Parts: sequence; structure tokens; C-alpha cells
Amino acid sequence: MSKREFFSEFLKQGKNIGAVAPSSKYLVKKMVDPIDFQSVKCIVEYGPGTGTITRELLKRMPQNSILLAFEINKEFCDKLEEINDSRIKIISDSAENLIDYLTQNNIEQVDYIVSSLPFAMIPNSIVNNILTVAKKVLGTTGTFIQYQYSLNALRKLKNTFKNVDINFTPMNIPPAFVFVCRN
Ligand SMILES: C[S@@+](CC[C@H](N)C(=O)[O-])C[C@H]1O[C@@H](n2cnc3c(N)ncnc32)[C@H](O)[C@@H]1O
Repeated sequence: MSKREFFSEFLKQGKNIGAVAPSSKYLVKKMVDPIDFQSVKCIVEYGPGTGTITRELLKRMPQNSILLAFEINKEFCDKLEEINDSRIKIISDSAENLIDYLTQNNIEQVDYIVSSLPFAMIPNSIVNNILTVAKKVLGTTGTFIQYQYSLNALRKLKNTFKNVDINFTPMNIPPAFVFVCRN
């Protein structure tokens, strides 16, 4: 899907999408760099959109690993289904329902959650549910990686996770903060 098609989805569903363009290669790099790919068995992606981060994850993930990608936009899900890779499962449902899908797929441990969810556009109660579930499934060994265009979500993240490291890239439209959170 082109940048123009992404923008057209933004015009239709801007509130849920929360961005006018896919992430830049600089932001994608900052999102995947904290991941130790050698030891990865399961990564969950929240809000893959057109798959900019998804493709980079798949490029680096080991052959015997799995990627569960949660996306609520039907057009984006249809495009993501075109990715020809047996390691990815596209889940056309909200991130807050993660536990149901882990159970269905017999997955006991999630190593990383990589999230592009536009927290500023999502009701507080849903953001709280998403973070509570994320903390639970990641346990003491997993890592939650999230980008946002402001520091507004920082307090929520710090209330949820013991350690939150902040990174920043000006090379994105708009510039973005990357939060790397661990229990
Ligand atoms: C800012 S876009 C990010 C797209 C892509 N990951 C990127 O970085 O270019 C956010 C995406 O989150 C999706 N989204 C919003 N709320 C969601 C939810 N509750 N569960 C899953 N996906 C959601 C939107 O449909 C949109 O595709």
C-alpha cells in the first residue's frame, strides 16, 4: 500500500489511525533496535497499519518464531494478508483481546510487544486495559516498545512498567518518541 493509500485511510478513519503517513525508516530502526532477535520466539505487534515495522521484524526474526499482528482497520488487514510468510498471523481485532489469541495459539510467553497504537486517540479505559494485559503477558522477561508523537503517555507507561527508557527521532513526520518498557 502506497503512502497515498495510507493517507486516504487516514482521511476516512483518522481518529483510529492517528498518523498521516507510515513510519519513516529511522523510526522503524529505533523500534526494532532494542530487540534481541537471536532469542526471540514470539513477538506481538499492535497496530501494524500497512506493515512498515512488520516487514522489518520479519526480516530479522528467526525461522522458528511467530509474529501476531493486531490491526482493527479492515483495509490494512487485507493488505497485510498479502505478506507471504508463514511466521505471521494477522488478527483483525483490538489489541486488548490479546490473551484470547495467545490461548487459541497455545502461546505461553511473549518476548516483545511492538506497539504503534495511537494512545492519544484511544479512550483511557481501553489504553489501561491494553497496558494491563501487556504487562501480564510480558512478565519479568519481556519488553514493551511503543512510539508516540508526544510525552503524554509517559506517566501511564511509568505507572505500568518498572523501567521506561525514552528515545527520540526527529526524522519522522511528525517526530516521534520511542519508549522501551520493562517490568
Ligand atoms: C499510527 S498507525 C501505525 C501504522 C504502522 N505501524 C506504522 O508505524 O507506520 C496506528 C495503527 O493502529 C491501529 N489501531 C488503532 N487502534 C487499535 C487497536 N485497539 N487494536 C489494534 N490496532 C489498532 C490503526 O488502525 C493504525 O493502523
